[in-house]
Amino acid sequence: MKKTNIILFGVLLVSSIFISACADEKETTPTPTTPTLYEKLGGTTMVADPANSGQMIEQGRLGLRSVVDSTIFVIAGDNELQPYFQVLLAEVGSGNVTGFTALSKNLTDFFCVATGAKNFTYNGIASMVAAHDPAQNNRMGLKADNAAYNKFVADVVAGAAQNGVTDPAIISELGAVLESLRTTIVQR
Ligand code: HEM
Repeated sequence: MKKTNIILFGVLLVSSIFISACADEKETTPTPTTPTLYEKLGGTTMVADPANSGQMIEQGRLGLRSVVDSTIFVIAGDNELQPYFQVLLAEVGSGNVTGFTALSKNLTDFFCVATGAKNFTYNGIASMVAAHDPAQNNRMGLKADNAAYNKFVADVVAGAAQNGVTDPAIISELGAVLESLRTTIVQR
């Protein structure tokens, strides 16, 4: 099988697993497959945390946190997505990083759980529908459409690339995690 076919097959397989896992509970965090993406990113191996001197961090979490933080910066420079994140961007523009810090933690926790981490929990807005409905979350500037969703996925891939995460198999799996949430997050 050609490499592109293998990747495509992988995306379809993982997508179908996630879609069937989410069919009954569309708003819950996706159920990871085995071996998990978290393990492939380094899993529970403890490494020095470059952002907090003297502290250790799971390698899988460090990878995901790095991708999340880079992605937030990619989004901040993305004309198409800026309107959605106007509350966050206005805060950061005035020197207030409280919302950024909370979003970084919540998104990192979310992706840790979604990719199979065992030692973290996601404590943000439980429902991804509610988190992305401006009527229920005033930090969401407007309802997302498919074009915005596609741009978001592209920005995550760009954020991953900034951290050296370019392995097509890993990107496919990450893409499948994102894709499994499209119907809950796209609301117009
Ligand atoms: C699979 C894709 C996505 C995932 C997993 C995701 C996940 C999340 C999570 C976990 C939060 C934090 C909720 C909380 O505060 O407790 C959040 C917030 C948010 N998301 Fe998403 N999201 C996705 C796609 C999108 C898209 C496509 C948009 C817009 C086009 C978007 C816009 C936002 C905004 C504006 C916030 C609030 C940010 C803030 O705190 O200021 N998200 N998202």
